[in-house]
Amino acid sequence: VDHEEFRRSGHQVVDWIADYLEDIRQYPVLPDMKPGDVVDRLPAHAPDRGEGMDDILEDFERSIVPALTHWNHPRFFAYFANSGSHPGILAEMLAGALNVNGMLWKSCPALTELEQVTLGWLRQWIGLPEEFFGIIYDTASVSTLHAIAAAREMADPAARTRGNAPGLVVYTSEQAHSSVEKAVITLGMGQDNVRKIPVDEAFRMRPDALRDAVERDQRAGKRPFCIVATVGTTSTSSIDPVPAIADVAEECGAWLHVDGAYGGSAAVVPELQAILDGCDRAHSLVLNPHKWLFTPVDCSVLYTRKPEILRQAFSLVPEFLRTAEHPRAVNYMDYGVQLGRRFRALKLWFVMRHYGREGIANFIRRHIAYAQRLAGMIREHPDFEIAAPTPFSLICFRYRGSDDENRALLDAVNASGKAFLSHTVLDGRFVLRLAIGNIGTEWEDLEETWNLIRQVAKKSAMSRSSAE
Ligand SMILES: Cc1ncc(COP(=O)(O)O)c(C=O)c1O
Repeated sequence: VDHEEFRRSGHQVVDWIADYLEDIRQYPVLPDMKPGDVVDRLPAHAPDRGEGMDDILEDFERSIVPALTHWNHPRFFAYFANSGSHPGILAEMLAGALNVNGMLWKSCPALTELEQVTLGWLRQWIGLPEEFFGIIYDTASVSTLHAIAAAREMADPAARTRGNAPGLVVYTSEQAHSSVEKAVITLGMGQDNVRKIPVDEAFRMRPDALRDAVERDQRAGKRPFCIVATVGTTSTSSIDPVPAIADVAEECGAWLHVDGAYGGSAAVVPELQAILDGCDRAHSLVLNPHKWLFTPVDCSVLYTRKPEILRQAFSLVPEFLRTAEHPRAVNYMDYGVQLGRRFRALKLWFVMRHYGREGIANFIRRHIAYAQRLAGMIREHPDFEIAAPTPFSLICFRYRGSDDENRALLDAVNASGKAFLSHTVLDGRFVLRLAIGNIGTEWEDLEETWNLIRQVAKKSAMSRSSAE
């Protein structure tokens, strides 16, 4: 262990990070790579003898950086754009140095209690009642898996020992994230027991269709045990009518889980808090600070009004992990699959303290304002159309042409390296998605991207007409 070498290369790494973030616009957002390029470039075998940090860092720049998709780039507009912000990055560095493992309160009191404190603060910011207990997992997929496991526990506590839960059915919308169905598969409850409820013209779950599906299953002797609503769906960011869905959940005694992985963060903005209307009646809610709260990947928060049921579903304490009971000592290992847990609350704490609620709300407001402005420009352009409402900072639009033309347009824009957009399919048509969520995105980034999209579309229209 050479502390001096660590100090020297540590400074070098921090300088590299600072330069990277300052000059990030010089990088192509998407790398020009073929699958296998990185594997072919790196040695087939690990070194027998240790290497100096200078050599490793040089190879990092030479072989790794050119193959990066730059998620922290202000013109990353694909999927849901996000940000590893300065305070979050510093906290991640510290978390690596501390290397603590928060399986039990005793295994790291600071980790456990900071998680309680930050999640209490965040709960207040988004306006959830105090009874909601929070826990951090890595991703929303895993948060939702735990929520559905708790729902099963509430419906059929014997399933934990018996090993199956026949007749239980989950309801979610056609637009819900695939993580809902994956959770059901993982829990061994069968994909056939997921009902995908139709949506309205704005891609929101239809409560009337939900009620019909629930009643149909009840008549067939099935048990509706869990309903998953979404605030900010992945394809279009639509917001399901949670209060009406909560009515159905209460009527049939099902657990209501709300997937606010992306959209939930917007409730930090006081005038947008109504997006979570009805969520106080939900049994659980997930939101991802690693999506739109400027916290580095990974950090997903699950809130539940029923922590005792989540605990009942997962607690299993072997002798070697038994510690003295104390009413204030939370052992987070009791609330999930994993034993070991990273110090994720540290980065959330740094981010929340550094920007404050006002700072974060201003970034989110700005992203939404940019999205509204750009959506307006797209709507007015004769060659383009808006394909879905824009309640948050995601714009769904398409070139007024064939699916193949839209696909070619997306490929050409992304191949330019100047911006990165993704796609979805809505009402059977290929649609471009432009999601704004990076802390460094300026209006000029959007203007330039929109100019690029129009230029590429015009060029392909010209080459098509000359070919005809
Ligand atoms: C609405 C929604 N839910 C869940 C997820 C899954 O998120 P994660 O990657 O954290 O599992 C996503 C991902 O984009 C999402 O948009």
